[in-house]
Amino acid sequence: MLEEAGHATTVPNPPDRQATRREMTEQPPRERPATSPERANPHRSRARSREVHPFGVVAGEAPGEPTGRGSDRPGLDSRRLGRGGSRTSLLLAPVPHVTGMMTAMSTPAPSSPPASPSGPTPALADPLPQPHGRPWRNRFALAPLTNTQSHADGTLSDDERRWLVARGTGGFGLVMTAAAYVAPAGQAWGGQLGIASDAHLSGLTALADELRATGATSSVQLHHGGRRADPRLTGRPNQCPWDDPEKDAVAMSTGEVEAMVEDFVAAAVRAERAGFDGVQLHGAHGYLLGQFLDARHNHRTDGYGGDLDGRVRPLLDVVEGVRAATGPDFQLGVRLTPEGTGISLEEGVETARRLLDSDLLDHLDMSLWDVFMRPRTGADGLLIEHFARLPRRRTALGVAGGVVSAADARWCLEQGADFVTVGIGAILHHDFAARALGDPDFRVRERPVSREDLRAESVGEAFLDYLAAGWDDLVA
Ligand SMILES: Cc1cc2nc3c(=O)[nH]c(=O)nc-3n(C[C@H](O)[C@H](O)[C@H](O)COP(=O)(O)O)c2cc1C
Repeated sequence: MLEEAGHATTVPNPPDRQATRREMTEQPPRERPATSPERANPHRSRARSREVHPFGVVAGEAPGEPTGRGSDRPGLDSRRLGRGGSRTSLLLAPVPHVTGMMTAMSTPAPSSPPASPSGPTPALADPLPQPHGRPWRNRFALAPLTNTQSHADGTLSDDERRWLVARGTGGFGLVMTAAAYVAPAGQAWGGQLGIASDAHLSGLTALADELRATGATSSVQLHHGGRRADPRLTGRPNQCPWDDPEKDAVAMSTGEVEAMVEDFVAAAVRAERAGFDGVQLHGAHGYLLGQFLDARHNHRTDGYGGDLDGRVRPLLDVVEGVRAATGPDFQLGVRLTPEGTGISLEEGVETARRLLDSDLLDHLDMSLWDVFMRPRTGADGLLIEHFARLPRRRTALGVAGGVVSAADARWCLEQGADFVTVGIGAILHHDFAARALGDPDFRVRERPVSREDLRAESVGEAFLDYLAAGWDDLVA
């Protein structure tokens, strides 16, 4: 039951969810190791993998691991706003941004970084000021999208460069690369981009140059697979915070944790040398930084586990290390999972609060998989509200998941986000951002889409095969 009497006079009508209702029934894309043909795709759709928890990385077990727990999950529709349903009814705690404005496109730009979750709703076209470096030109960020197009040694391919540069010319304010491994031991799938050595620099430098010419701000997502790396690619046993025989992973020593922190910092420095505006730390979806956050398993006693202070420490050490090692204009972001993979919503919110309170980040991107979703744990309201209401000092807050129209994106800003991260929509349209900025009624095309049409969107052959293998409904 979604509709209840409520605050209908204080919130806008929801954007038309007709097309996006389809998203509700789909398995969120998944990042998983390529340990078998079935697992060769780090991201999966529900259509191909119905045995897997349909909330995927949002909901519970480590992503990529079939849980067979379909029966204990909350009903997807009952946890998400439905078309025609009043979003208002779900706003059980007032959110300052929710002011009933569907006029966001014409709201004046804020003159300073979005320092608090209160104030006027920005327009999608408003530049997003950054504490470090140049502002983003608008509120659209390209989601990190693994596309398996890199060369076997992790160097950038022409197809991957074309894919990303097209999103820059397509109007995105921020163009983020796919998850790039920071150390050879962290590689999690074939065709993954690398930023683990100076051998990766030349392709990255060319990419940064081209992205800058498009007017987009550029960033590299820094990643380590941890227990979900692929030993067939790395040639060594996986490492993670705890001994994990199931994954053939061994617990890292304290020295190895410190070395891992250094690997992230060195990769950030490399991104800066290549000319990127910044990096984003992949702390989401149950990869290494997220594995440290896992309260179920990370019982380390060396200061990098146990209570939340210990579990969050590797992430904070990387944040502080990157800040110390990079220049004053270098932008640093973090991506987090709100709940699931051993993280309760309460701890997800607390981790976000600490990061925002540190004032060291330029952005925090919450990977919600579905921006319209309620918490799976039965907590009040919508997931997005739990993060949008946090004080954020100078850090911009982004949200990702199921944004397929200009109206969806406006709605996210109205809930208190500062920017909107777009994945599938940006695969379907290289110029999703430009279209949504130019047409308030813009909505993505119907799927499936022919290979030819996706090629015209600068989706290369390896990416096409990868999408076709993992998403039944995407590639015709
Ligand atoms: C093909 C594909 C690859 C992805 N690769 C990554 C990745 O490398 N890093 C990451 O943090 N999330 C990754 N994701 C998740 C997306 O960044 C995004 O959060 C998710 O798709 C939800 O947004 P959307 O509904 O707009 O696609 C991937 C998703 C897809 C569909």
